[in-house]
Amino acid sequence: MEQRFEGRTALVTGSTSGIGAEVARALAAEGALVVVSGRRAELGAAVVAKIEAEGGRAVFVPADLSAGGAAVRELADATLAAVGGRLDILVNNAALLLQPRPTGEVDEETLDAAYAISVKSAFQLTGALVPAMAERGDGVVVNMGSISGSIGMGGSALYSMTKAAVHSLTKSWAAEYGPRGVRVNAVAPGPTATEGQADNAHLIAPLLATAPDRRMGRLEEVAAAVVFLAGDGATHIHGAILPVDGGLAAV
Ligand SMILES: NC(=O)c1ccc[n+]([C@@H]2O[C@H](COP(=O)([O-])OP(=O)(O)OC[C@H]3O[C@@H](n4cnc5c(N)ncnc54)[C@H](OP(=O)(O)O)[C@@H]3O)[C@@H](O)[C@H]2O)c1
Repeated sequence: MEQRFEGRTALVTGSTSGIGAEVARALAAEGALVVVSGRRAELGAAVVAKIEAEGGRAVFVPADLSAGGAAVRELADATLAAVGGRLDILVNNAALLLQPRPTGEVDEETLDAAYAISVKSAFQLTGALVPAMAERGDGVVVNMGSISGSIGMGGSALYSMTKAAVHSLTKSWAAEYGPRGVRVNAVAPGPTATEGQADNAHLIAPLLATAPDRRMGRLEEVAAAVVFLAGDGATHIHGAILPVDGGLAAV
């Protein structure tokens, strides 16, 4: 098997389940030492065990990204300790997934939590980890965006707002860190077959009916895009928002 990340290290936030867990597996399958993170320690341990069973290397570092800057700093420090002081790849994937709700019915607690988990923690984690990459002159950040960050969807204003912020940060960080050797890009999945989407078929079906590919994405299709952007096949790609949505946002 190709080992394009041999000798490299990665942190994938929100990798106890879903897309993040698959991204962690895919990076580890190609040789990276991966830090798996999230709140649910049992699931984190299961992701690590699966990676190890497949011959990869991973460690679980717990973190609650709703808990503010000190918790984010702790994750950054524990990550650096787990990988021997050098992080090569940061995947900002954790997010608060929200069921569609009219704007007037979104309470302040949910509004603050969505911002804290999906935007603020990625901002602070990047601020904590990426300057060292820039000083060194190499590193990669891949943010998890969404088609919701680019197109309007009724009832999804809050989630869309957080994802539009992630898309914006991707371009701002490309401008900020790119000249010092750190590539920053994002993947923007469409509806992807995670456990969390299992009950949303009735909401997703009308969307998929308009998409060229007419189906949900698979976890490994999103992970493959992250692996591509993190790898040396993407060395001239900065500030891109790569859709992995079966063409949904394009038509
Ligand atoms: N599934 C889709 O259709 C789809 C489409 C477009 C974009 N996305 C994006 O893909 C990413 C992954 O989503 P997913 O669908 O794979 O959902 P998921 O399975 O629910 O994964 C969300 C991850 O975020 C972590 N997380 C949530 N709150 C956290 C907190 N307070 N502190 C630390 N970690 C936290 C969760 O870990 P713990 O619960 O263990 O903390 C979990 O690992 C998100 O950025 C999402 O917006 C998903």
